[in-house]
Amino acid sequence: LSDHICPVWVGYLLASPLRKLFHNPQKIIGPYIREGMTVLDAGSAMGFFSIPAAKMVGERGTVICVDCQEPMLASLKKRARKAGVASRIQTRVCSTESLGVSDLAEQVDLVMAIAMIHEAIDPARLLGEIAQTLKSDGRLLISEPKSHVTSSQIDETLRVSRALGLIVVNEPMVKRTYSFLMKRAA
Ligand SMILES: C[S@@+](CC[C@H](N)C(=O)[O-])C[C@H]1O[C@@H](n2cnc3c(N)ncnc32)[C@H](O)[C@@H]1O
Repeated sequence: LSDHICPVWVGYLLASPLRKLFHNPQKIIGPYIREGMTVLDAGSAMGFFSIPAAKMVGERGTVICVDCQEPMLASLKKRARKAGVASRIQTRVCSTESLGVSDLAEQVDLVMAIAMIHEAIDPARLLGEIAQTLKSDGRLLISEPKSHVTSSQIDETLRVSRALGLIVVNEPMVKRTYSFLMKRAA
């Protein structure tokens, strides 16, 4: 794995309940999730957002968690069992070259790409794969940490997104991040 990629020990920190003090999943993803939805958590790590999302989608919904590090997903599965939502969560280990989600074309209501695009070897390819999974009225939430990402990297992410036919519909306030809610242009 490249130097860019979040080590597994940081995965434990990111999944800590203390993080809720400044990143409250209810506030950050709650507005975009309803019961029965299909949510894709790209770069889920240990599920800080996936497990609350699984509670929000209810019994008829699904959260698909994709990560390139298997130990992240192993811990996520344990946490999902403990939270009683394991049956709503699918996990997929991917390669760093591809998310491996071509089977999800136009099936996803919300993609969460939280603190992960800057870790990708090829962010443009990653965004292309993500965009293809969106339903026509689906949404993509991108959130990137200001500590790791420059404003020119964000500009590049926005440029690539526009080229893929995505438009920004909201810029939610998420502490210490650049965050954008996107959808497909009509
Ligand atoms: C900083 S963590 C953020 C995790 C989570 N989204 C959160 O906010 O708690 C980034 C995660 O993305 C994963 N990741 C990095 N590059 C990836 C890629 N190309 N494909 C899939 N997962 C990737 C890492 O393994 C890591 O678990």
